[in-house]
Amino acid sequence: MTEVINTERLTLRPWEDSDVDFIYDLYSRWVVQRFIGTEPAVMASRSEAVERLARFQAMDHPVHGIWAVTRKEDGLPVGTLLLKPIPASGDEPLQPSKDIEIGWHFHPDHWGNGFASEAATAVLDHAFASGLEQVVAVTNPANEASQSVCRRLGMEHQGLSKKYYNAACELFLVSKPAATDPAAAEPAV
Ligand SMILES: CC(C)(COP(=O)(O)OP(=O)(O)OC[C@H]1O[C@@H](n2cnc3c(N)ncnc32)[C@H](O)[C@@H]1OP(=O)(O)O)[C@@H](O)C(=O)NCCC(=O)NCCS
Repeated sequence: MTEVINTERLTLRPWEDSDVDFIYDLYSRWVVQRFIGTEPAVMASRSEAVERLARFQAMDHPVHGIWAVTRKEDGLPVGTLLLKPIPASGDEPLQPSKDIEIGWHFHPDHWGNGFASEAATAVLDHAFASGLEQVVAVTNPANEASQSVCRRLGMEHQGLSKKYYNAACELFLVSKPAATDPAAAEPAV
């Protein structure tokens, strides 16, 4: 069951049947789709949105998730946040690797508010609190907005990589923060 996550301005929750129109509105836009996948294409029909919703709802894992990101003040959906195994490059159909990726797709009406960074920060906290040791993110080399999100999250740029998705992507990595040892912070007497 996808865990509900709250931040200062957002609630990340499981997808509901009533979200289908939002999914269609989001993924039928070229500005959203242009850097997603090896052959970017917009969603062309509402029935595709129904299928996508079902795929999102089928994610059932204690740690991984595909969340609907909603605005706390009025419940409005603003985007998608993903934490899931990333497909390794190889023969089609691609198989999930052991590495976990974080990803974000937001509606352009809500860009420029820090929502993607706020939601992703909370999902990384959840990932590390749940025992993950590291999380990766990949972006199209031209997707500067997404690379900026990675940097805001403190993810380290690893350079161009062909390790995932049968594509050359900019790879970012973040490791679980080291636990602070309170004793180490004590001043020596
Ligand atoms: C990638 C994407 C999520 C980035 O969205 P975004 O709104 O720019 O990202 P953030 O949530 O980090 O917001 C940062 C922006 O909000 C501004 N901002 C405003 N209030 C803010 C706040 N309280 N906190 C942080 N940033 C704030 C920042 O200044 C920054 O604006 P700038 O880019 O003009 O400098 C968005 O472009 C998108 O969904 N693209 C389509 C899908 C896509 O490509 N996904 C990635 C696939 S790899």
